[in-house]
Amino acid sequence: MTSPTPIVYDYSRLVVPDDAPAFVRQAALVEADLKYIAPRLATCRQAVMDNARLWVTGGPVPPEKQPLDAAFFDLPHQFLDEEREQLDRIIATANRLAGLCDRVVVLGIGGSYMGARAVFEVCCHPFHNELDRNARGGRPRIYFEGNNLDNDAAGGLLDLLGEGDDWGIIVISKSGGTLETAVAFRVFLDALKKGCRGDMGKVRERVVPITGETGRLRDLADAMKLPEVYPIPDGVGGRFSVLSAVGLLPAAVMGADVVQLLEGAAAMNEVFRLSAPLENPALDYAGISWLMQVRRGANIRLLSTWGKRLEAAGLWYDQLLAESLGKHGQGPTPLTAVNTRDLHSRGQQHQEGSRDKLITNLVVEGCPSEPIAVGRSEYDQDRLNELADRTLPEMLAAARAGTDQAYADDHRPTADIRLPGLDEVSLGQLFQMLMIATVVEGRLIGINPYGQPGVEAYKRNMNALLRPR
Ligand code: PA5
Repeated sequence: MTSPTPIVYDYSRLVVPDDAPAFVRQAALVEADLKYIAPRLATCRQAVMDNARLWVTGGPVPPEKQPLDAAFFDLPHQFLDEEREQLDRIIATANRLAGLCDRVVVLGIGGSYMGARAVFEVCCHPFHNELDRNARGGRPRIYFEGNNLDNDAAGGLLDLLGEGDDWGIIVISKSGGTLETAVAFRVFLDALKKGCRGDMGKVRERVVPITGETGRLRDLADAMKLPEVYPIPDGVGGRFSVLSAVGLLPAAVMGADVVQLLEGAAAMNEVFRLSAPLENPALDYAGISWLMQVRRGANIRLLSTWGKRLEAAGLWYDQLLAESLGKHGQGPTPLTAVNTRDLHSRGQQHQEGSRDKLITNLVVEGCPSEPIAVGRSEYDQDRLNELADRTLPEMLAAARAGTDQAYADDHRPTADIRLPGLDEVSLGQLFQMLMIATVVEGRLIGINPYGQPGVEAYKRNMNALLRPR
């Protein structure tokens, strides 16, 4: 594999000289901050790799480190090398489902669907589901459900699926007991059984669960004698599972190149392993963001995406950050913006509101599709003829430069994550970079990024209301 063009994390605008005026230093970092953080990042990197190795060597995980879901780190290497056979099986299942189904419904919530949704938005045509089968590359239309208890959304999708058998279900739940997903599975399975006129052979071909080794979904899959069930390996937590079958199977069904996704992530691991702190995107993003929070009060972590196709990736990161680091009264509050759309909604607050944000632009180098020019018109009342040769990517770049400048003029400097493209290799790098960075930041804060004990409270209350004794 040749090394892909790497992601760049550019924090240069956030660093000002040590002798800059106090009001400038208040909103930025100084060289002394970088000197402070560099050795700490090196220590964190070692710890992250040691923990990942614990999973490869089979533990044991000492009690003080539990839960330790560090096995995500090596998934790219495992799938590309030792467990290549499992990857080939995933691709074969995806191709089989794609051949059988015009529509595939992915049921899952949180970490069990947000990564696949990000792949869908980055790697597929923006109107994939509206295209005919040829234009979709022979792949099915993809829908995400089981991520809410919304009657209208579930009912609307059931209407769309109709009464036929040309659709299938991928149901994803690591615990196997998440109510939203379990209920959706029951409802959609019932519709599929009806569509297949009760022929369980046909149903079994069209349903693929992805779940833990034990649990209710595993029991259900066994009882239904479903022939293909993919595991979520121990040591891979929900929001760290996008590069397991959880993300890879839906990605392969929609026609994304999962090998490239994994190769991008593997390349990021190499950069993480080998590049010095302050030249290492995953480490630096964690270190700079953490410093901006603890030293400059930037409690809101704003990922400012430039392009609609990055919104779901931003929301995937929202979940990763919120569930991993929002513990013990600590952790940044994540927020995804999509520009230029949100310049017309949140922009005012970001420009002149409270100084509690770190804004990181998520940008794509170049433009993956044919640039559209404004064009000339005989009706020039809108005065656009003077921009006739300008293209949408040029205008987006100008909007970004103008926004960065406006923030900088008010001493609200921004950073950039620059993706080399809008494709599987870039997204694989981004997934891995942000998962590693989240774990590193957990170490800097001093909290365990794995597990999400706080999510249990609502579940307990909801269950008490629904299942009174
Ligand atoms: O990151 C996590 O672990 C969570 O967001 C889970 O993915 C989410 O709660 C769904 O859980 P499950 O896959 O067990 O249904």
